[in-house]
Amino acid sequence: MFDLFEWHSDHLRLGDLLFRLEHFRNDKWNLGDNHFRLYKVKGLFEQYQVFFGRKPNFQAKNILEIGMWDGGSLAILNEVFLPSKLVGIDSQSNRGDSDYFKQYLARHKLEKKVRTYWGTDQGDAEKLREILKSEFEQPLDLVMDDASHLYEPTKTSFEVIFPHLREGGIYIIEDWAWLHWPEFDRDPYFAGRTGLTQLVLEIVEMIGSARGTPPAVLTVLPGFVAIEKTSLNLATDKPFRIEDYICRRPVAKFAPPARLRELD
Ligand SMILES: C[S@@+](CC[C@H](N)C(=O)[O-])C[C@H]1O[C@@H](n2cnc3c(N)ncnc32)[C@H](O)[C@@H]1O
Repeated sequence: MFDLFEWHSDHLRLGDLLFRLEHFRNDKWNLGDNHFRLYKVKGLFEQYQVFFGRKPNFQAKNILEIGMWDGGSLAILNEVFLPSKLVGIDSQSNRGDSDYFKQYLARHKLEKKVRTYWGTDQGDAEKLREILKSEFEQPLDLVMDDASHLYEPTKTSFEVIFPHLREGGIYIIEDWAWLHWPEFDRDPYFAGRTGLTQLVLEIVEMIGSARGTPPAVLTVLPGFVAIEKTSLNLATDKPFRIEDYICRRPVAKFAPPARLRELD
């Protein structure tokens, strides 16, 4: 699936597409704007290779990406999965499709198939519902969340969008593990914020609380978690709250054995 990726120190080539790697920006970048700016590294794609390598029959015809940045990851999703509908959203309102992105769409006649929503916050449940309703005729096959990486808006997106996933569909949340990465210590964006670990644990609790067929299968890798929907029949017109699917038994009080009580 990712065999055609040609990795270089500061860029990636995929067919005739050029992606400059934001993590490795350097002076040689003054080469004009004929490229995407990509916020992903080779190691992440190696994890995707492991994950999707175990699902050779997985197909994604309807894809939603949250967090587009420069549109490079949308182009990669399009090249890898050949979807019939691909929608991206991003909260940046001072940005739109880059010229390179527009040329890519025009060259491959993708304007109807690939749609972008700038100025759209992943925590805006109403707007997300509107986009899902107007853009997708079929349930979603794949969702990629590479947006805020913050607990509250990421959970809102998940609760709104997960019911719209087909059985066997996959919801991916990237960079969930930032709370465990020492290099993020000095990043003011994450200072004092609840880690996405909290959301992952709630999903674990939801799965553990299920009786019978579990609602989802969770795969955890350092770079992303993948929540594969198995059977939860969630109405798309009613709110889905993870909390409603979690059972937490009251913790039994610890009673020390009689012998220890005597020694007290
Ligand atoms: C890490 S970048 C995405 C990188 C892109 N997927 C790529 O691989 O090149 C994160 C993006 O999420 C967007 N973002 C941040 N918070 C957001 C929010 N609350 N809702 C939607 N998008 C958000 C940012 O504007 C930014 O473009």
